[in-house]
Amino acid sequence: MTKQMLIGMHLGNGYGTIPGSWRAPGMDPTNYTSFDAKVRQAQAAERGKLQFLFFPDGPSHVGDLDNEPPGFNLDVMVTLAAVARETSRIGMVATGSTTFNEPFNVARHFKALDVLSHGRTGWNAVTSSAEDVAANYGRQLPPSHERYGRAHEVVHLVQALWGSWEQSAWTHDQESGRYAHADQVAPINLGGQYVASRGPLYIPPSEQGQPVIFHAGGSPNAHQFAGRWANAVIGSAFSIDDARAQREAFREGAERAGRNPDEIKFIVGLMTSLAPTKRESLDRRISLSGRVFGQRASYLGHMLGLHLDAKNLDRPLAPEQLAAARPSPADPRSVHALEVAHQGWTVRDILAHGVIDYHPVITGPAVEAANHMQEWFEADAADGFWILPDLEEGGVDDFVDGVVPILQDRGLFHHDYEGTTLREHLGAPAQYGVDPRVTQ
Ligand SMILES: Cc1cc2nc3c(=O)[nH]c(=O)nc-3n(C[C@H](O)[C@H](O)[C@H](O)COP(=O)(O)O)c2cc1C
Repeated sequence: MTKQMLIGMHLGNGYGTIPGSWRAPGMDPTNYTSFDAKVRQAQAAERGKLQFLFFPDGPSHVGDLDNEPPGFNLDVMVTLAAVARETSRIGMVATGSTTFNEPFNVARHFKALDVLSHGRTGWNAVTSSAEDVAANYGRQLPPSHERYGRAHEVVHLVQALWGSWEQSAWTHDQESGRYAHADQVAPINLGGQYVASRGPLYIPPSEQGQPVIFHAGGSPNAHQFAGRWANAVIGSAFSIDDARAQREAFREGAERAGRNPDEIKFIVGLMTSLAPTKRESLDRRISLSGRVFGQRASYLGHMLGLHLDAKNLDRPLAPEQLAAARPSPADPRSVHALEVAHQGWTVRDILAHGVIDYHPVITGPAVEAANHMQEWFEADAADGFWILPDLEEGGVDDFVDGVVPILQDRGLFHHDYEGTTLREHLGAPAQYGVDPRVTQ
């Protein structure tokens, strides 16, 4: 059978990933607090047989609350619990900081959720990089080497706690009266430079044993960390070459840790604004996000080495501007921005293409998204994609009804779940407790 891609669906604040999404026609402006909305969106993703939902998190808000909602879920763990009860197959990956949480709390919450979801839970173990998040914990952000030093210890302890109730310990035999083998539930007694725990954790295995580990980060520290612990990486890249290099760095990290590089899947972000035509997609983005385009025009100018501002929005770049433009080496999105400018779009339309969004953006029909995914996948740039729709309400359905069937017809995406657990969906090997290969 030919290799097939993995697909995850990003669910954030209930509205979508572009400014103004909360005001979209048909959008319930109270979606931010609606768990029913989360369930609806999750069920749509499950209908498309997507392998997982991804809940990012950074428990803070530094944006423009007068005009825009916070970017994240009310609480990713509570969301995961709510969604787990209303879905049956799709995996769910929640983000949790290794810098600001105690390993015992993380181990307990995630394993309980894994039991509740019948083995569909993943933990996106991130080191966090925002001072405003640190401030919410009454702390300052430690330097990267300390964050990653603590991260290694936290994941090690969490997995040791997950394994501290052995898989055969729970007999619950009413006839004999033997509830469990107490000698198979043992303390872990682990401590390091940053964290410690005695254990044990009194939670039996889930259907997949224990949650799957994800990671999101980009530095050499991240490659080493994910290489040792993670089964999947939530990534970000603006070109095939960049994505291939990142994927290779994570695979090398896994090999250095004594693992098979195929055990770590590099999942890259893709933003979608799907519509029957590109013009409709661009117009929707302009009507929702146009308010921020003046400011974005200045930044676009900075990316291209030109002076641009709100006064330039209605014109394409003049031939002399195009001749003078130079993509900024400091911003990997600049090359694509210049390509779009060369196509003759007005500055407003260039911005509506999402050239300064956080991931590559598809504006237009579903086949464009399928083509992009096929090209990257076949170039070994990614093992899969996490999709960030412009609108969570409706945008998930557009992806599932438009893009998924094309990928299935091309043999690039499965037609149904092969198993019932997230571990099976990802093709991740069985693991219970700590992987002995990575702690020797
Ligand atoms: C694609 C991607 C997604 C991320 N998502 C989150 C997130 O949801 N929450 C969070 O606290 N940090 C997130 N991070 C930040 C990482 O936690 C990390 O702190 C940051 O990348 C700095 O680490 P690095 O130097 O290894 O890149 C993300 C990073 C990347 C690259």
